[in-house]
Amino acid sequence: MRGLLAIIFLFVIPTFSITSATIPSIKLACILVPKWHIVIINNISEGVILHLKSRNDDLGNHTLPNNGSYDWEFCDTGQTVYSGEFRWGSKDQTLNLYDTHAWETCKNGKFFGTQHCYWLVRPEGFYIGKENTPFPNEGWHLEKSWP
Ligand SMILES: *[C@@H]1O[C@H](CO)[C@@H](O)[C@H](O)[C@H]1NC(C)=O
Ligand SMILES: *[C@@H]1O[C@H](CO)[C@@H](O)[C@H](O)[C@H]1NC(C)=O
Ligand SMILES: *[C@@H]1O[C@H](CO)[C@@H](O)[C@H](O)[C@H]1NC(C)=O
Repeated sequence: MRGLLAIIFLFVIPTFSITSATIPSIKLACILVPKWHIVIINNISEGVILHLKSRNDDLGNHTLPNNGSYDWEFCDTGQTVYSGEFRWGSKDQTLNLYDTHAWETCKNGKFFGTQHCYWLVRPEGFYIGKENTPFPNEGWHLEKSWP
């Protein structure tokens, strides 16, 4: 019986995507896959709303005040994609916040430890960087504009 439960556990658990955004009280440990930490920083003088989604989960709406941020961690199994729909007043834009392009841009080449990726939300658009340096800085790359 216990063996059967273990088999069920092994096959059921990996189908859930585990993020610290949904279970903040648990210290996230990643086994044999890299841990990623994504930080979204609002550099607009007004609040913006982020609707965060992964391929399988709706991770809800989060209000980022001016200079406020939202961050989350996850274990990257190689299939992970996160997208964000941002609303700023009447403007609306959707972009991928973590995908193979973000992985290429932000990876630090180390197998152990946490990898970080930063997004800066500005009036002219969305910048990605592997470090949170003061803007403007050549480390920030404009990825998408507001419509
Ligand atoms: C987030 O906001 C959008 C747009 O207002 C809404 O359609 C969606 O249901 C909200 N999601 C959650 C999880 O509250
Ligand atoms: C934004 O936040 C950073 C870090 O918390 C702080 O150093 C900075 O002074 C803040 N800037 C504004 C404009 O509030
Ligand atoms: C944007 O960020 C820069 C530092 O990166 C800060 O000096 C500036 O005050 C910020 N502006 C707003 C509107 O948050």
